[in-house]
Amino acid sequence: AHIVLDNCIRCKYTDCVDVCPVDCFREGPNMLVIDPDECIDCAVCVPECPAEAIVAEEDVPADQENFIPLNAEKAPKWPAITRSKAPLPGADDLNGTPNKLPFLED
Ligand code: SF4
Ligand code: F3S
Repeated sequence: AHIVLDNCIRCKYTDCVDVCPVDCFREGPNMLVIDPDECIDCAVCVPECPAEAIVAEEDVPADQENFIPLNAEKAPKWPAITRSKAPLPGADDLNGTPNKLPFLED
């Protein structure tokens, strides 16, 4: 599956959801995740993310491997999102800030 990484947190641009052919993005308060049971690894979402926050599972950086189980754990709990919406306030300022995981809302 493809994995949403740390840099989505507090940005949530949502451009990714418009291109997913199987609607497998799930929406938390300040991050999206990908349902690994639904993702078909088409990779079309990767270049759409302004935060470069989506990678194939095999390309997840070593220091963000915890996002693999995080996507899997949140996906069944969060609702589907299939249309893009406005990013979170301050998204452009927070894009690129390292280690936003402590700010993840559930
Ligand atoms: Fe959807 Fe394809 Fe991205 Fe998987 S890789 S989340 S199927 S757009
Ligand atoms: Fe997050 Fe990027 Fe989508 S910031 S909401 S993965 S476009």
